[in-house]
Amino acid sequence: MRSGTTELAHRRYAVSEAISEAAPETVAFPQDRTCPYQPPTAYAPLRDQGKPLNRVHLYDGREVWMVTGHAEARALLTDQRLSSDRLNPDFPAPSPRFEGLRDDQRKAILLGVDDPEHNVQRRMLIPSFGLKRIAGMRPRIQQIVDRLLDDMVAGGQPAELVSAFALPVPSMVICELLGVPYADHEFFEDASRRLLRGPTADDSRKARDDLEEYFGQLITRKEAEPGDGLLDDLIADRLRPGDLSREELVGMALILLVAGHETTANMISLGTFTLLHHPEKLAALREDPSLMPGAVEELLRYLSIADGMLRVATEDIEVGGVTIAKGDGVVLSTSLVNRDATAYESPDELDWHRSARHHVAFGFGIHQCLGQNLARAELEIALHSLFARFPGLRLAVPAEEIPFKPGDTIQGMVELPVAW
Ligand code: HEM
Repeated sequence: MRSGTTELAHRRYAVSEAISEAAPETVAFPQDRTCPYQPPTAYAPLRDQGKPLNRVHLYDGREVWMVTGHAEARALLTDQRLSSDRLNPDFPAPSPRFEGLRDDQRKAILLGVDDPEHNVQRRMLIPSFGLKRIAGMRPRIQQIVDRLLDDMVAGGQPAELVSAFALPVPSMVICELLGVPYADHEFFEDASRRLLRGPTADDSRKARDDLEEYFGQLITRKEAEPGDGLLDDLIADRLRPGDLSREELVGMALILLVAGHETTANMISLGTFTLLHHPEKLAALREDPSLMPGAVEELLRYLSIADGMLRVATEDIEVGGVTIAKGDGVVLSTSLVNRDATAYESPDELDWHRSARHHVAFGFGIHQCLGQNLARAELEIALHSLFARFPGLRLAVPAEEIPFKPGDTIQGMVELPVAW
């Protein structure tokens, strides 16, 4: 029995009861988007107020701070008084699924850990995701993209872009990088989906257990028969000498595989949908492909697919005219921070020529996305090659009929039927 769980549940219940008696006047977090590429319209009052920090409430009625100001978000993401420790009882849970996945028996990895422990884990991985290493992978990414586009042509139209292209590109790439057999993709793509979007907390917990068991077995096989992926290197250089436990390695493999394919897949599908909805912007990109790196940066800012970074304050913090008290939960809204008018002129415009570099779509500070160089390379190659191969690419059904993901997970298209 995990100690603390019952107590926590009681405390949450009490908070939720207290709040429901006096109906909260704050906006709820998270919210579904009404347009897949715009911040949720329910956040409009927060934008209108123009305050960099606002109170919002979570599913259980608990009130937390939501950071929407760009300067304040970047300051807070580098502030050591904000913790990522998910086992801290005051850590904010945005959904029952998230709450159900908190487990004090498990060793937290990367996103759920503070420095100095986080830094020890991260340093083991940095060389594999550096600019030079990723630049060396570009020809192979291009090959993967070209082959999938060939298959799409051969399969005829209409095609479902998520399953034919957006998901397999990053999935194949992260498999090669890690040394995970792509032949197992149906299993791990489905398990990742259940982990991130399972209908119930139990379903998500089961998906995590399945993935952990899978990686446990894969590591055992690799110990007997080493390959040449990052997991093989970590077994030889870290697990064997005892710098890394088996449990930590399983946790690392899980976060890298899930973060490595789900996020980029959503950016490819939502990026394609957004470009098809902005034909003049797409035409400019076709005319001048050298705009692509800037366009990818701008799409990252504009789409903000990972909308809501979570932290808890371990001390009082004065910021943006308010005091975040010790124990307060903090949600940093990527979509609103990246549309802050004090940081970006006409923030709701897609502009390939602006310098979007300071966006927080990949986070900021010590947890800033480890895979960002890889994601950028995949997005540039995938989007450029897709529109070059299919100059007449279009939606195969009306835009309103295309399902997109709910607000409590990474944003993107569930399906994207296209013709050309
Ligand atoms: C467009 C695609 C992607 C987006 C938008 C994205 C977004 C993010 C964000 C916002 C964070 C910080 C979360 C926080 O501070 O709470 C993060 C962290 C992370 N991302 Fe990504 N990511 C993407 C692709 C990838 C890829 C391809 C990988 C490959 C392995 C990856 C691996 C990670 C890891 C391991 C962390 C945790 C880093 C740490 O705690 O030190 N991501 N990502």
